[in-house]
Amino acid sequence: MSSFRARRDQVLNHMQQQGGGAALLRTAPEQVRSNDTDFPFRHDSDFYYLSGFTEPHSALLLIAKPDGTQESLLFCREKNPEREIWDGFRHGPEAAREQFGFDRAWPIEALAEQLALHLADLPALYYPLATRPDVRPEARLDTLVAGAIQAVRAQRKSPPATCHDLAHLLAEMRLFKDPSEIELMQRAADISVAAHLRAMRATAPGRREYEIEAELLYEFRRGGAQFPAYAPIVASGANSCILHYGINNGLCSDGDLLLIDAGCEFDGYCADITRTFPVNGRFSGAQKDCYQLVLAAQQAAIAQAMPGRPYNAIHDAAVSVLAQGMLDLGLLDANKVGTLSDVIEHKTFRQFYMHGTGHWLGMDVHDVGDYRAGSPRADGERAHRKLEAGMVLTVEPGLYVRPAEGVPEAFWQIGIRIEDDILITPDDQHNLTGALPVTVEQIEAVMREAREGAKVQV
Ligand code: GLY
Ligand code: MN
Ligand code: MN
Repeated sequence: MSSFRARRDQVLNHMQQQGGGAALLRTAPEQVRSNDTDFPFRHDSDFYYLSGFTEPHSALLLIAKPDGTQESLLFCREKNPEREIWDGFRHGPEAAREQFGFDRAWPIEALAEQLALHLADLPALYYPLATRPDVRPEARLDTLVAGAIQAVRAQRKSPPATCHDLAHLLAEMRLFKDPSEIELMQRAADISVAAHLRAMRATAPGRREYEIEAELLYEFRRGGAQFPAYAPIVASGANSCILHYGINNGLCSDGDLLLIDAGCEFDGYCADITRTFPVNGRFSGAQKDCYQLVLAAQQAAIAQAMPGRPYNAIHDAAVSVLAQGMLDLGLLDANKVGTLSDVIEHKTFRQFYMHGTGHWLGMDVHDVGDYRAGSPRADGERAHRKLEAGMVLTVEPGLYVRPAEGVPEAFWQIGIRIEDDILITPDDQHNLTGALPVTVEQIEAVMREAREGAKVQV
């Protein structure tokens, strides 16, 4: 609880330094899956970051008054013995206040009225602007805020004159993970590593992609993860060239590669790992050539993930290795596309590598935080920000060869991505997912041992 309280204090002190204000957050809405059945509830990340509270229908109001008094208020569902028989335990405001360390707590139904009371004569309001387009207009935070401001005016008092985007303030805080967050991210990473290993061992010609997906999900849940962090991609053969493939019903065939992009969410924090390996346990010549290239690109990119390096150095390093490899392998014809610098300048490499090399990772798999900082330069762009201790990011280069004229047929339908999760430390880096085999030799050894183990069992 001390981490959540420290984060609330940080927001309160920020508002205090600006002359006082109120910060408002609500958790995520429940989402209908079909008819009267909902998707499993997942809290809003910002709300959880400041509250630690995972029940639906909850809100948080932080007040920093100009006179220096500060309060943290929680709004949540009341206890309801009848509903608790059907849906499970609810804290209720009083127990939630005590257990989660808020100053006061109310039933969620009191939110509009309390908001109007607290906003009167406060100089500023902080709330996430223009988020959650999925929520219907009458249930949006903007609508609640507009109602509260009108209610303040109706009392002939002054509503806040200034509005700030709370999401931006929290994004900057969330970008730097504290020790308790790093511990959870390592747990999510460890469970996901175990799941990938299990999936690798279970793969063989004749299995369906969903059978392998089931192995991943089994290991996630067995390890205590609440959810997959995103829909797992289990893509064999030509499917490996579909970046967001997700049906996962194809047949794993002898001679094909299998690309698995999957990670779990543990106590609100995500892992995001990709490995690509041969269905039959042995890379063919062309597969190995491509794989070694992507691995070299990933190693070059990871080497740039160091404190003080600009964020884009990671992508630039990956692109440089991949583009040279495309020329060397004959995927790109130097007579047509020119030299390495031509390929980079004209972005010709995008035929085979069309996505970025990573993203921030945290409570959201594509986590919040600006990638650029400072004022715009002469070209109108802001510079990429420098990496700092506490940031966590993925490094995930790939190579995707779709059939095309002029592309050697031996490489057709080869899709490879390799993704790991890197924590920037004060003087170095730590690969949270580095325990998962990644070299050709390591992967072939894991699969060979699994096959031999299966034979012994028979
Ligand atoms: N799995 C989503 C991504 O790699 O960005
Ligand atoms: Mn991924
Ligand atoms: Mn990713």
